[in-house]
Amino acid sequence: MNVLIIGSGGREHTLAWKIKQSPLLGKLYLAPGNGGTTETGENLDVNPTDFEAIRQVVLNKKIDMVVVGPEQPLVGGIGDYFRQDLVLNRIPLIGPEKAGALLEGSKDYANRFMDKYGIPTARFRSFAAREMEDAMEYLQRLEAPYVLKADGLAGGKGVVICQNLDEARQTLQTFFEGRFGESSKKVVVEEFLEGKELSVFILTDGRNYKMFPAAKDYKRIGEGDTGPNTGGMGALSPVPYGGEDFMEKVRHQVIEPTMEGLRNERIDYRGFLYFGLMKVGDHPYVIEYNVRMGDPEAQVVIPRIASDLLEALDAVAHQRLEDYELKISPSAAATVILASEGYPGKYEKGQPITLAGGLEDVYVFHAGTEQKDSQLVTSGGRVMAVTALAEHYRNALSTIYSNIEKIQFEGRYYRRDIGYDV
Ligand code: AMP
Ligand code: GLY
Repeated sequence: MNVLIIGSGGREHTLAWKIKQSPLLGKLYLAPGNGGTTETGENLDVNPTDFEAIRQVVLNKKIDMVVVGPEQPLVGGIGDYFRQDLVLNRIPLIGPEKAGALLEGSKDYANRFMDKYGIPTARFRSFAAREMEDAMEYLQRLEAPYVLKADGLAGGKGVVICQNLDEARQTLQTFFEGRFGESSKKVVVEEFLEGKELSVFILTDGRNYKMFPAAKDYKRIGEGDTGPNTGGMGALSPVPYGGEDFMEKVRHQVIEPTMEGLRNERIDYRGFLYFGLMKVGDHPYVIEYNVRMGDPEAQVVIPRIASDLLEALDAVAHQRLEDYELKISPSAAATVILASEGYPGKYEKGQPITLAGGLEDVYVFHAGTEQKDSQLVTSGGRVMAVTALAEHYRNALSTIYSNIEKIQFEGRYYRRDIGYDV
């Protein structure tokens, strides 16, 4: 099978690394990939949202399966583009159609969906710009802190937690004035949930699903979970507070009603689905859906999958996932992100990356890197993820931290406290 992976981050490098191990694989391509994915496949200079260019690649390279990594092409309708094309509709695409991608593309839609199917989530209401005063009235009925969410995609920056009503009013104003363009013309106001966060993933063919290992993501830039939110600065899997009993609740209260909802709405969902959960007491609440794998969660979840991922994706494409046996390694995994100084704000690009000594027992998944005149340089905020597996994540982390200093570039930043809180 020739496979095309869409995307350029650490998640896509990890997917490529795993798919590369499958005996079912013919040739592997990435659109556009990064400086590390050239070890696993051929990078193609194609933009993930340029569906016309992707179509050409699929035809020219005789692609048998497309795996979509990030949310933008899914929310932009790549699933429908393939289904509606007379030639492309025979080529499996891993990722939902647009109606399914709305679970991530619109927080308002996601909340309504959860309401309709009895999935536990925070109390909420949605408001448009002309409803500023209604929004303020609703906020007065909630208790601080207040959670405000831009309805549409905002690159992980669309959620603001406000400590008081003044702050909430100002934030609402900036949202309605287009802080995230069209994405924030509608705002979801939510009750604040106090608890522990974890990310749960399934792979589904629309009929059945397989549960992947859960992960904990470290979202804030600063040590001790301080400073602004990022795409994620590190991750662990399994999650210490995600034991069997709790995961059973997640299955029954969250995953199964979501599957039923998808079927009931006649949404063709074949792909990854990510549940951003808050564990409140012993109960799961959904704070967000994502219609893809997490990043950097993929960098700890995928390496723990012991069976053939490409075989699983093929089973998804043909709705035979029921027959697939998912095997999970009992090892724990951890990952730490190397970032460019300044991220998630402004940062330098083009810094040469060098290795001082050999790396031992770690996997390095690239994100913001590129090859320039046969030199690896930085090209993004999150540059690389360094992953290790061990019997306990404590050992995985000590392996990571004893190797990470060997990867050097100007302005390198990473959190030294991943895993310390658990
Ligand atoms: P999201 O962009 O949806 O991942 O949200 C960003 C972060 O905001 C989450 O990781 C949570 O830490 C926080 N958050 C979102 N919704 C809530 C909520 N209802 N209560 C408390 N925290 C929340
Ligand atoms: N790490 C969070 C996400 O992928 O959305």
